[in-house]
Amino acid sequence: MIYLDNAATSFPKPDAVIRAMSNFLERAGGNPGRSGHRLSIAAGRIVYDARETIAELFHARDPLRVIFTLNATHALNLALRGILRAGDRVVATSMEHNAVMRPLRALERAGARVIVVPCARDGTLDLDAMRRAIELDTRLVVVNHASNVVGTILPIAEIARIAHAAGALILVDAAQTAGVLPIDIEAMEIDLLAFTGHKSLCGPPGTGGLVLGENVDAALIEPLWRGGTGSRSESEEQPDDLPDKFESGTPNGVGIAGLGAGVRFVMERGISNIRAHEVALTRTLIEGLQNIPGVVVHGVRDAAKCTAVVSFTVEKRQVSEIGLRLDEEFGVLCRVGLHCAPAAHRTLGTFPSGTVRLAPSVFTMTDDIRATVDAVRRIVHE
Ligand code: ALA
Repeated sequence: MIYLDNAATSFPKPDAVIRAMSNFLERAGGNPGRSGHRLSIAAGRIVYDARETIAELFHARDPLRVIFTLNATHALNLALRGILRAGDRVVATSMEHNAVMRPLRALERAGARVIVVPCARDGTLDLDAMRRAIELDTRLVVVNHASNVVGTILPIAEIARIAHAAGALILVDAAQTAGVLPIDIEAMEIDLLAFTGHKSLCGPPGTGGLVLGENVDAALIEPLWRGGTGSRSESEEQPDDLPDKFESGTPNGVGIAGLGAGVRFVMERGISNIRAHEVALTRTLIEGLQNIPGVVVHGVRDAAKCTAVVSFTVEKRQVSEIGLRLDEEFGVLCRVGLHCAPAAHRTLGTFPSGTVRLAPSVFTMTDDIRATVDAVRRIVHE
């Protein structure tokens, strides 16, 4: 089996992740931050260690400003629905995932003004167009760090500077980049960073988070839900303390234990080493696919300008047929279709049929990529 669906969720997970999760269930399975007994304290320590490790990864000064969520979608909803009010202007790009576009369309119906800046056909963004869109009285700019369809990387630091010059906040969807590209929320001036745990951070599904930059006033963000936090239990009002304000209910301790181990794995291996490995794989993949007559590779087609996500179509062939045959005849697992990102596919010109998406990871070998290119060649030549 060759697993190339890491943009949907990464597989396999490092052994350390599996060990951390079974250790939590076997030895530390109390409710973190609630009771005072040893299992609760052990669980609380694991959750706090993970919070600290994530803060270190993203250069966030205060671990308490790392809010755990179920995934990037939850983190994006918390930021978008927590910040935007009727009449607020919000700017996004035409390469966003539905995790951004669906909450934005719902907020639009509630009175927010949603502006979508069109990207080019390869997924790149014209910064002047972005500047013109942001200039007018904008509350929030929300952009993906890299596309989940073609991996095109957007210039976050430049967009953040434009947003701040106009008095807007910037929310970054790092679902595809956390763990493979360096993210420094201070240097890149990111106000709100939404990430998922189960992709390149090598953690389990059901984990993710929202990091609040130092300049963001948490008092202005409404929680998505309210409830028990293990703190200020005398009050029936939601506490303002971080992260409790946004983390009501028993957290996913076992998942967070795995996430912490995943982030440590990434830091030990080194983001730059992981990136170099993935760039080399992506380059081989793009070149190999482009050499097959009839195959069209979408996006920037330059491994240095995208994450390890390669989308292609084959003239006069259905993407579903290619995906099925890759799986059944060659053991290559990928994702075909619209990848929950219809806006991105419209931009790329691949709507409504979508693309075949191949996404290697830190664990993919060069031989896996060669075998995959060979499999595509054989399917296309028939
Ligand atoms: N957002 C994930 C993907 O692109 C699930 O496949």
